[in-house]
Amino acid sequence: MTGEPVIRTDGLTRRFGALTAVDAVSLEFTAGRIHAVIGPNGAGKTTFLNLLSGNLRPTTGSVRLRGREIAGAPVHAIARLGVGRSYQRTNVFPEFTCFENCRLGAQARLSSSMRFFKPADAYAGVNADAERALSLCRLSHRRDDAADVLSHGERRQLELGMMLATSPSVLLLDEPLAGMGAAEAGLMLDLIKGLASDHTIVLVEHDMDAVFSTADVITVMVGGRALETGTPAAIQVSPAVREAYLGAAKGAPAP
Ligand SMILES: Nc1ncnc2c1ncn2[C@@H]1O[C@H](COP(=O)(O)OP(=O)(O)OP(=O)(O)O)[C@@H](O)[C@H]1O
Ligand SMILES: [Mg+2]
Repeated sequence: MTGEPVIRTDGLTRRFGALTAVDAVSLEFTAGRIHAVIGPNGAGKTTFLNLLSGNLRPTTGSVRLRGREIAGAPVHAIARLGVGRSYQRTNVFPEFTCFENCRLGAQARLSSSMRFFKPADAYAGVNADAERALSLCRLSHRRDDAADVLSHGERRQLELGMMLATSPSVLLLDEPLAGMGAAEAGLMLDLIKGLASDHTIVLVEHDMDAVFSTADVITVMVGGRALETGTPAAIQVSPAVREAYLGAAKGAPAP
């Protein structure tokens, strides 16, 4: 069940001038688990995801995906290896329908495999992937509605659907619950939990109730460092976490 980690970072570091946004982070992410990364604003969580997805190159350190070094590889190459990424802001095409949005996701993957298939077969495959993704993100009933008539929560579901249409094995989620009401957040959490059994999930999220009720493993980042990693129960009672997290949060600039 556990076995080798799907993603493993070693000494992963990213500097922006004098600032070390991600500081020698060594972590393992295992399949079938929801691994949350929490920490105050500016802790380096998004930068860490960017290093995993190829949106940013590390200054030093290693990222291995199933044993293969991917640090510094471009986004499209890492995506093709099965790493899906969502962003802190929603990223859908508002004038396209939900189905079309998912199809765009599926097509992104197709461009790399096109040469192996006849166009008609490839087309059918893309449509099937898009339908499956719509169902996985629970928007089949919204199939032919334009994305701009969706609620905020539904738009985030659609964004997840576009990612799922690429058939990723790893999901990097950056604040998927941001801006959601309780009902929307509950639905999204349920959706994420349902995906955990056959995906490796890295969940960056500020909603602590959600994190502590959903995550199997939590890493606390403060000032670019991975301060502590453990079960929700262990993290909740960790004096070091309490001290560093709350101290840093108090000192953090207002958003
Ligand atoms: N492209 C960049 N150039 C310069 N500094 C950056 C860049 N991206 C991030 N930073 C800085 O790196 C630090 C970490 O930022 P990051 O966005 O990773 O934090 P975060 O933990 O995701 O915060 P939040 O919870 O507010 O989203 C911050 O001080 C930020 O200002
Ligand atoms: Mg962030």
